[in-house]
Amino acid sequence: MASSYFLLLTAVLALVSWQATASDPGPLQDFCVADNSSRVLVNGFVCKDPKDVKVEDFFLAAKLDMPRDTKTNKVGSNVTLINVMRIPGLNTLGISLARIDYAPLGENPPHTHPRATEILAVLEGTLYVGFVTSNPENKFLSKELKEGDVFVFPQGLIHFQFNPNPYKPTVAIAALSSQNPGAITIANAVFGSKPMIPDDVLAKAFQVEKNTVDWLQAQFWADNHN
Ligand SMILES: *[C@@H]1O[C@H](CO)[C@@H](O)[C@H](O)[C@H]1NC(C)=O
Ligand SMILES: *[C@@H]1O[C@H](CO)[C@@H](O)[C@H](O)[C@H]1NC(C)=O
Repeated sequence: MASSYFLLLTAVLALVSWQATASDPGPLQDFCVADNSSRVLVNGFVCKDPKDVKVEDFFLAAKLDMPRDTKTNKVGSNVTLINVMRIPGLNTLGISLARIDYAPLGENPPHTHPRATEILAVLEGTLYVGFVTSNPENKFLSKELKEGDVFVFPQGLIHFQFNPNPYKPTVAIAALSSQNPGAITIANAVFGSKPMIPDDVLAKAFQVEKNTVDWLQAQFWADNHN
């Protein structure tokens, strides 16, 4: 009797730990090119028939060598994300890529990727980066990066990048461990949600007057993601 309970417990634990795997599911075939015409909803996208797969399914003339415009948004940065929506062949492969341009004193404001760890390389300029941990609680780790440096932002943690140079732009390339990492920008999500979170809720959370919350909610929260 006891041993069958033990077996059951082991099976349940195995199932639970399998489900807790914190990355995109591993592919069970060479590829599963997204069929964007399918109306079936699955985790990710339905696979196109492998016989119909073309080289273009794995290609995008993304012009990632070209600087992006960082002047038309308030935060002074521009994220060009190449995910499964841009390259259907990325479906199920658990990876994506971004070019990030920073104006002098521009920043990619505090945000999290719910589904991906990020590894970033500075190609040009300098970058002050940081993230906050959940355990130990709210420990801030930060560093100033120079050209050629590489930094890792663990999955789900709030992080940012800031160009401290008042004269020169910065360029970085980042890889993310999801075909669709998602980005939740903290200020936009908290003060720019639609509809708005009630101001008394935020006043208590941030320990400020409701007027301060109303002022923050009245700002235009720029989205720097493309
Ligand atoms: C679906 O993919 C095809 C080929 O890649 C593309 O031409 C088309 O615009 C896409 N449609 C949608 C709705 O994304
Ligand atoms: C990012 O740059 C592109 C090309 O330079 C531009 O079309 C786009 O509006 C910019 N996006 C933001 C959010 O500033």
